Amino acid sequence: MVRSYSLSSAPTAGAYRISVKHEPHGKVSGYIHTALHPGDLVDIASPRGTFVLEEGSRPIVLISAGIGATPVLAMLHRLAATRDPRPVWWIHIAHDRAHHAFADETHALLAQLPDAHEHIYYTGEAPRPDEPYVTQGRPSASSLARLGIPADADVYLCGPTAFMDHFGGFLRDHGLPPERIHTEQFSALPAINPGVTPTAGVRPHQPPGPPGTGPLITFSRSGVTTPWSPAHGSLLDLAEACHIPTRWSCRTGVCHTCVTHIVSGDITYTTPPLELPEAGTVLVCCSAPTTEVVLDL
Ligand code: FES
Repeated sequence: MVRSYSLSSAPTAGAYRISVKHEPHGKVSGYIHTALHPGDLVDIASPRGTFVLEEGSRPIVLISAGIGATPVLAMLHRLAATRDPRPVWWIHIAHDRAHHAFADETHALLAQLPDAHEHIYYTGEAPRPDEPYVTQGRPSASSLARLGIPADADVYLCGPTAFMDHFGGFLRDHGLPPERIHTEQFSALPAINPGVTPTAGVRPHQPPGPPGTGPLITFSRSGVTTPWSPAHGSLLDLAEACHIPTRWSCRTGVCHTCVTHIVSGDITYTTPPLELPEAGTVLVCCSAPTTEVVLDL
């Protein structure tokens, strides 16, 4: 079994730390929590992915829900380790105090920054009087606007898909350009078996926005042909923009969940996969076309 976990420590720590929630029926999280012991050896791949803190001088906003805190926690460690002078907003949504992971750790890290703003939302519990930074309920577009987030901030968002869709919309409405809103989904969409159980609810269509000028990409099962644009990042991103049913999990070339038959054409890997898939197949999560491509999707 292969799993992807975010690093949750500073990149300078000299060790890797992951933080794994014990899911009641999780095979791997159960194994980690009950069978793995200090000193045991495990096979791991080197860290990979593109959800990383950018250098620069723009304000930073780290927004997470639940266990989505882990990759932005790594960023917060990095910022605290260097006493970064940029203004930092830490916005986190949890069900209640008992489910608020890393509460003390993040509070202490934020205290090390010269210009930090902490806003915690509990959806199922009222704040205590000594916690002025805690609000009951979910943040809305208007409450988010009141936090004073500058429109030139770099935002890093991690949480369930619906949460990120909501917040991405709020932030765009607030005036943040989409390229400043960096996202990381920590959970897979329900697996969809292309062409067998078309449960997406929306018929596949051309992607929104101006058409690309690259080679034509055909999703043969879905009957969509559309020109490639590098704005999509990967063939999987393009497929999702067209509401093509897809399957994925890690989105970084590790798990092979997204493996897809390529009917014709050629691709290049934007992130080298851990292991190449079989001949005649591609990992759409981390590839871009170099020629016209027909995919069995
Ligand atoms: S989604 Fe894991 S390899 Fe593509």
